[in-house]
Amino acid sequence: MRLIITNSYEEMSVAAAKIFAGQIYLKPDSVLGMATGSTPLGLYKKLIAVHETIGLDFSEIISFNLDEYIGLEPENPQSYHYFMHKNFFDRINIKSENVYIPDGMAADMVAEGTRYDALIESRGGIDLQVLGIGQNAHIGFNEPDIKFEATTHRVRLDEETIQANARFFTDEQEVPRYAISMGIKNIMLAKKVVLLANGKNKAEAICKAVCGGVSPAAPASILQLHRDVTVIVDHDAAALLPQAVKAPC
Ligand code: GLP
Repeated sequence: MRLIITNSYEEMSVAAAKIFAGQIYLKPDSVLGMATGSTPLGLYKKLIAVHETIGLDFSEIISFNLDEYIGLEPENPQSYHYFMHKNFFDRINIKSENVYIPDGMAADMVAEGTRYDALIESRGGIDLQVLGIGQNAHIGFNEPDIKFEATTHRVRLDEETIQANARFFTDEQEVPRYAISMGIKNIMLAKKVVLLANGKNKAEAICKAVCGGVSPAAPASILQLHRDVTVIVDHDAAALLPQAVKAPC
């Protein structure tokens, strides 16, 4: 794991955008793994700016999103389909046929998971995956569990996740209780991973991810076994990391 500690959310987003822009420049037909939540919004803004100012080209880029709520139509403003189009895809020149997001309206979630995994494989696997992290150290919607779920699957969201995500809804009751998410194996198969976190409310999760024991009770901890992970955090999110871990940063 490489650890980059930045002074601000802005700096975190710039550092992540450099990695993504470099990837796209060097491999214009890269397969990118995308995440939702407020954390990667700064990264998406920077990439849009690089696209607009110096023409970073997404025309051959393929993207796979990590997850989607079950039961929300793509047109629903709370859906991750809507979020990704509004905040990123509609503002770059990615082709719509190259955008993949799990179908939260699928009748059969087992079949949808199988279909999604096959699509990722058919496109050659993910080159670069961005991840946020939940306060309970979830990645995608892989919640703390007694085992790691390997592939794309249906998840019952934890109460903590429902509470945390309620800020995007008018009422907590509106937060879907289920989601479909890529599994841990899907994420671990990505050639490179960038994990982003900012704010004090992520400090405990980052501590578990970076230097806790590897356990499905803290899903992000599995990233310690990945060969190419860059963790980019601000000082608040790094606050609980031992000094020895922070020292080289
Ligand atoms: C959701 C998403 C995760 C994301 C997490 C953190 O649960 N499924 O992919 O990392 O939220 O969100 P935020 O970045 O808003 O803190």
